[in-house]
Amino acid sequence: MKRTAFLLIGATVAFATVAAAEVIAPDDVVFNDDGSVSTSLTGVAGDTENGQKVMVTKSLGNCVACHQVTALDYAAFHGNIGPSLDGVGDRYDEATLRGIVINAKRTFKDSMMPPMYKTSGFIRPGDFKGHSVPNPPSILTAQQVEDVVAFLQTLK
Ligand code: HEC
Repeated sequence: MKRTAFLLIGATVAFATVAAAEVIAPDDVVFNDDGSVSTSLTGVAGDTENGQKVMVTKSLGNCVACHQVTALDYAAFHGNIGPSLDGVGDRYDEATLRGIVINAKRTFKDSMMPPMYKTSGFIRPGDFKGHSVPNPPSILTAQQVEDVVAFLQTLK
């Protein structure tokens, strides 16, 4: 009995370690030539409900500050700096959507859309004394990116 419990715990820990190791860090993301990203950042299917939440939350993606999305009309403000995202699931495949959310500049050169999953390579002038400042954390976590991509695919 005891032995079985130990084995079970061992297996659970091993599984959790493997799952955690599968998350692709911002610097390790592999972009295709067209800016798309074929591989899921987490290997865990995106949660469309959470993707919606991320898109209307100011401190997270805040996508609706720049994009109109009819399915998110309950959210207070929709900007028109970017194109409407209605039908975006028909216009782009999953890999393209993932690339756009991770770093839109890879798909649209000089895009003003902020990269959502990036922690290095920013041009940072340093603080007022000229000291370098640490890079900020990514705006979204790997799973939040996958959740948003899953929701975008429902916009048909
Ligand atoms: C600061 C404004 C801004 C924010 C915030 C923003 N975007 Fe964008 N987005 C743009 C602009 C501008 C474009 C048009 C492409 C370009 O930059 O040339 C764009 C393009 C896109 C496209 C391609 C649309 C098409 O039909 O070609 C998708 C998909 C997209 N954004 C998703 C998102 C998601 C999801 C979020 C939130 C996680 C987000 N955007 C946040 C400005 C923004």
